[in-house]
Amino acid sequence: MKTIGPGSTIGMLGGGQLGRMMAMAAAQLGYKTHVYCPEIDNPAEQVSDQATHGKYEDMSALKKFASAVDVVTYEFENIPVSTVEALSEKVAVFPNSKVLQISQDRLSEKTFLNELGIKTAPFSAVSNVDEAASVLEEISYPAVLKTRRFGYDGKGQAIVKSVNDLEQAWQTLSSDQIIIEGFIDFDMEISVIAVRGQDGEVRCFTPVENRHKNHILDISIAPARISDALKEKAIIQATKIINNIDYVGVLTVEFFVSQNDPKLRVNEIAPRVHNSGHWTIEACPSSQFEQHIRAICGLPLGGTSFIGEARMTNLIGEDILKLPELLKDGNLNVHHYGKSEVRAGRKLGHVTKISVK
Ligand SMILES: Nc1ncnc2c1ncn2[C@@H]1O[C@H](COP(=O)(O)OP(=O)(O)O)[C@@H](O)[C@H]1O
Ligand SMILES: [Mg+2]
Repeated sequence: MKTIGPGSTIGMLGGGQLGRMMAMAAAQLGYKTHVYCPEIDNPAEQVSDQATHGKYEDMSALKKFASAVDVVTYEFENIPVSTVEALSEKVAVFPNSKVLQISQDRLSEKTFLNELGIKTAPFSAVSNVDEAASVLEEISYPAVLKTRRFGYDGKGQAIVKSVNDLEQAWQTLSSDQIIIEGFIDFDMEISVIAVRGQDGEVRCFTPVENRHKNHILDISIAPARISDALKEKAIIQATKIINNIDYVGVLTVEFFVSQNDPKLRVNEIAPRVHNSGHWTIEACPSSQFEQHIRAICGLPLGGTSFIGEARMTNLIGEDILKLPELLKDGNLNVHHYGKSEVRAGRKLGHVTKISVK
């Protein structure tokens, strides 16, 4: 285990709001942050010590970045695996590139989960519309077509209710790397934010309930309103996943919860801190961001208990204009990500309300 002490510099790939909140947690523990991302105007850089603007394929800029930092991490999962591998030759990178390889492709992700004995939606990879039609006879309708790579916030997805929808769905996705998933008629979506230290210790926050609007996370409620037995089961599955990839840092596991068996299916994993974990900033002794910094720096992990029920609401697009009104509620924890452009569907901030037990 390599401990990197306060005063050291954490290199961070990506400059979004997750990076911003991670840099703030790093600063609280006495670390500096050096952001690496292509965008000049980005939320993370505003609260970091240094920034390099470069493409993720620019090996000479990456080499210089590696020599300027003590450890590297990332705040989004579409970093090329080759970038992480090249950096790993010069400096420790957490989490490792193996998890990127698995999670960047929905096919390898679901195959990996099933091999661990963890249930997912039924799925099959297809590369043309005829293949899709025959797979759909097996999986049956309704089903969800997803691009295998680069999907987020519901982008790169189409629901097909019958064979008549197929041609149109195929056209809109315009890719020949598609995965078809059976549609899960779930009661609830939950996620588990897990952290694993360099010594292999794993801790999980209590499962959180997630509600989406227009395929974008709208509200998270912690703890999720499910039985203790199901919470325990979700935590066991998340722990199994994080242990199996020799992971260091925070990993998020999204589940569908159904009344009938299997009650839990994993939808996807995210090798990073997550929007559904923002409530931990105010509700827990150590937030998901701080846990991640502790793990990658080889520090002891922090506490995951919570002081009461938490409700986090995203401020998306014009929601951010409600900020003056929201600020009048002195019990609301308000977060603005410092993004200058208000665009529909863009995550611009969030608020959290804690009801102390
Ligand atoms: N197989 C499915 N059955 C039912 N709903 C689904 C299925 N797959 C995705 N969804 C819905 O779409 C949302 C986004 O899908 P997800 O696979 O998590 O992609 P993203 O990468 O965009 O988060 C999920 O949170 C869920 O609400
Ligand atoms: Mg998702």
